[in-house]
Amino acid sequence: MGLAWTNQLSVGNAIIDSEHQVLLNMVNDVERAIRKSDCFALSQAFKLLENWLCIHFANEEKIAQAINFPFDRHKLAQQFSLKELQYMKEELAAKDGLWSERAMEHYSNFLKNWVVDDHIVKFDMLMKSALQKHPYDFLPG
Ligand SMILES: [Fe+2]
Repeated sequence: MGLAWTNQLSVGNAIIDSEHQVLLNMVNDVERAIRKSDCFALSQAFKLLENWLCIHFANEEKIAQAINFPFDRHKLAQQFSLKELQYMKEELAAKDGLWSERAMEHYSNFLKNWVVDDHIVKFDMLMKSALQKHPYDFLPG
């Protein structure tokens, strides 16, 4: 069962929420490729995820600046996330599709914790009260 976005994950901004929905789908694609031991699908899914994260992180930063939300810690966490994903990608590539059931569980838990508990809940949710002072469909100027 893949990750699904719910209203509880809303951070109070339409752009960020819709980007998070895409993000969860992309993480689901990575997890599916891991479970199928499909190296080609995995490298494609990782590429899409990494590209999307760069776009998403830049949009979050723009929105944070527009609402005067201090973004330094966020930015560090974003950079750390990209490195962790890179590391995970290399680890998986080195095993060339030969990962164990336990490794699949490990990476699947890691992805879920990272995207939901860390990225959305621990970091982006910090912006919610500041974002809610603006209309839900607020766009940076
Ligand atoms: Fe985000």
